[in-house]
Amino acid sequence: MADFWTKNSGTVFSLAPMEDVTDTVFREVVMSMASPGNLHLMMTEFASVEGLNHPVGRKRVAERLVINESERQLRKELGIKLVAQIWGLNPEIYHNVSKWITEEYDFDGIDINMGCPVKKVVKMGACSALINDPVRAGEIIQAVKSATHLPVSVKTRTGISRHETERWIPFLLEQKPAAITLHGRTQKMQSEGLADWQQISLAVRLRDEAQSDIPVHGNGDVLSVDDGLAKARETGVDGIMVGRGIFHNPWFFHPERVHVPARERIDQLLFHTRLFEQTWQGKKNFNILKRFYKIYLNGFPGAAHIRADVMEIKSYEDVYRYFENLSID
Ligand SMILES: Cc1cc2nc3c(=O)[nH]c(=O)nc-3n(C[C@H](O)[C@H](O)[C@H](O)COP(=O)(O)O)c2cc1C
Repeated sequence: MADFWTKNSGTVFSLAPMEDVTDTVFREVVMSMASPGNLHLMMTEFASVEGLNHPVGRKRVAERLVINESERQLRKELGIKLVAQIWGLNPEIYHNVSKWITEEYDFDGIDINMGCPVKKVVKMGACSALINDPVRAGEIIQAVKSATHLPVSVKTRTGISRHETERWIPFLLEQKPAAITLHGRTQKMQSEGLADWQQISLAVRLRDEAQSDIPVHGNGDVLSVDDGLAKARETGVDGIMVGRGIFHNPWFFHPERVHVPARERIDQLLFHTRLFEQTWQGKKNFNILKRFYKIYLNGFPGAAHIRADVMEIKSYEDVYRYFENLSID
C-alpha cells in the first residue's frame, strides 16, 4: 500500500483530475494558494494510453502530462504528491505506456480512469463502461501494476444506470489497487443530481468487511474543507477528493482565507495568466483562461463589471494592460 493514499491521523485531501483544468499551471496555482497540511495529492488531466502509444498522437496527448520545473519544486517543498491519470481500452498498451510514463516522468503514482461518462469514450468501452466489463477492468489493472513500481489506483463511479457499489467495489478490491476513489454518482447521472455519500459509506463498509486495508477516497459535491472533514467522519473514508469546489473558491485549500481582497485576487489572476502564457506559448488557446478569470473576479464590489470587461479580451497583452490601468481600492 502506498502511504500517501492514507494518513496516520486525518484525512487525505486531493484535487480531482479535470480535463482542460488540472494542467501543470493550474496545479501550481492551486498549490501556491493552499495552506500547509490542507492539500496532499493532485492528479493530471486524463491521458489516453492509445494516444500516448501513437507516434503522431503522443506529442499532443503528452501535453497532459507536462510538469513545469516550478511545479515540481513547489510540490517537493510542500510534500504534495502527483498522480498521472490514464484511460484507454487495450491492456497491452496500458502496460507499455505505464512503463514509459514511469521511466520518463516524475509521478508518484498512476491512476486508471474507470469513471468518465462521456459518450465518446463510453461507446468505445472505456472509462465508466469498464464497470460493466470486469474482465477487461481486471486485465487493465494487472497490466498497469506489472509495468510499474508506482502505486496504481482506480477512480470510478458507483454504477452505470443504477448504483452497483455492492458488486463493483468488492471486485475492485480483489484486484488490489493502491487506492480506490469513488465518485458517488452513476454513469447515467453524469454530473447531475447530488453525489450519493451513502454509497461511498457502503464502499468503506464493504472494504472493512473484506478485511482489506486498501484506502477508499470519496468524491462528489464537497463544498469546503470542513464539509469534507464532516463527510470523512460520517463515512470513514481515508480521503476526500475535490473537483468543482475549486471553481467556487480558488482558496479552497486555505480555509482560513474567507474574504480575499480584490487586489490579491487580481494578482493571482495575473500570476496564473503569466504562467499559462510562458508554459503553453501558443499551444493552448488563450480563451481557456476565461474559465479561471470568472473564479478570481468574484466576491468584491465591482467584480461583475470587471468580469464582463475581461470576458471580451482576446489576448494576454490586453489582460495585462487592462489591469495596469484599473484602479482598485
Ligand atoms: C471540467 C471537468 C473535467 C473533468 N475531467 C476529469 C478527468 O479528466 N478525469 C476524471 O477522472 N474525472 C474528471 N472529472 C470528474 C471530476 O474528477 C470529479 O469526479 C467530479 O467533478 C465530481 O467531483 P466534484 O463534485 O467535487 O466536482 C472532470 C470534471 C470536470 C468538472
